[in-house]
Amino acid sequence: MDIAAIAGLAPVIPVLTIERVADAVPLARALVRGGLPVLEITLRTATAVAALEAIAAEVPDAVVGAGTVLEASQVEQIQRVGARFAVSPGCTAAVAAATRSAGLPFLPGVQTVSEAMVLAEQGIRLMKFFPADVAGGVGWLKAVAAPLAGLRFCPTGGIGAETAPAYLALANVACIGGSWVAPREAVLAQDWSHVERLAAAAARYKRF
Ligand code: 3PG
Repeated sequence: MDIAAIAGLAPVIPVLTIERVADAVPLARALVRGGLPVLEITLRTATAVAALEAIAAEVPDAVVGAGTVLEASQVEQIQRVGARFAVSPGCTAAVAAATRSAGLPFLPGVQTVSEAMVLAEQGIRLMKFFPADVAGGVGWLKAVAAPLAGLRFCPTGGIGAETAPAYLALANVACIGGSWVAPREAVLAQDWSHVERLAAAAARYKRF
């Protein structure tokens, strides 16, 4: 599956910052049960790689990838434990080259038209728009639709249940990302039925 196919699996990619490895599998199962199989585990905690490995091994219906990939050296590490894709808040030549040579589907981030143009020159047609809410949100995506025709985005950052539908109504939005479907308090309380309900609501959003 390439990154466009992965983005096509569900309207929302949960962005998960996992603090306790023991939460990883039940959290992933709750999200998959709710209808969100594509999961991004941010590499922001000491437990992130172990959490990713546990989900890859024990939740076969999940398509799990790593987020916050900032360095080329992380690509080999995440692929070894079962990551199916990599996400970065931005993009460097080294990270892009590492994902390409590893054959790992990659969703790099942009915040400006020039950054999107640089990635388009490399043949990248789907990119994360980050941080979406503060970088212009729905208005930015509407404004770039004509000049950047042919490019599609996965806006992430500051999106919640109230704003998600407006993003998903846009033709140049493939899917959206966000942490609101797995609130930190619910994860710490291991309230998996709450997470499943939030995921089920997000899975019902209509895309353009
Ligand atoms: C990310 O890494 O993509 C963001 O932290 C997710 O943003 P959110 O927490 O505002 O949804």
